[in-house]
Amino acid sequence: MLVAPSVLSADFGNLARDVRAICDAGCDLVHVDVMDGHFVPNLTIGPVVVSAIAAAATKPLDIHLMVENNTFFVDLFAPLKPEFITFHIEEEKHPHRLIQYIRSLRIRPGIVLNPHTPAEAVEYLLGDVDMVLVMSVNPGFGGQKFIPTIIEKIQRLKVLRDRINPDCLIEIDGGVGSSNIHELKDVGVDVCVAGSYVFGQEDYKAAIKSLKI
Ligand code: DX5
Ligand code: ZN
Repeated sequence: MLVAPSVLSADFGNLARDVRAICDAGCDLVHVDVMDGHFVPNLTIGPVVVSAIAAAATKPLDIHLMVENNTFFVDLFAPLKPEFITFHIEEEKHPHRLIQYIRSLRIRPGIVLNPHTPAEAVEYLLGDVDMVLVMSVNPGFGGQKFIPTIIEKIQRLKVLRDRINPDCLIEIDGGVGSSNIHELKDVGVDVCVAGSYVFGQEDYKAAIKSLKI
């Protein structure tokens, strides 16, 4: 299991310190939640702050866009050379085109599914993405409770993934911690995002280790 702590739960007054700390503690990716106040009812950070995160990070960035007008934001963040940019299928008229565009920028593209969106929605995109991010809470805020029906969706997605593109990673985001990580691993999750769980503990190294199963 790869571990991607979400900096949404970091101390924004000491952001560089916290980003360095999770990298030193052994995370695999730094998950960055970009919200525009339109697609979701919350507003987070733009390229100025994300470039400070990129400068502090010694691990690759995993940028999760929760925005309207995805292409505008892809162009804003591409110069920071993230490993992944993921965007929501619900907010994109031409997801296939945007996936090709992200890849043309030498960034690995991923697609995100809200809790109500079926796994089958990505069937004809799976061959072109490097990651599918399954939301296990409604996007917008950290610290929410895991939605249990998402387990079945991951099982369906895994069947499609194994058939169409076994190299594509399945990432889960929302309400993840040591209490459900084993179940998530068992159904085929490859990458976990964890915000409040990791940053809520004093020892980041132990927190990350408990998710790396
Ligand atoms: C929610 C974000 C998540 C969030 C996860 O919209 O996409 O990345 O930070 O927070 P936890 O792990 O606390 O549920
Ligand atoms: Zn996220």
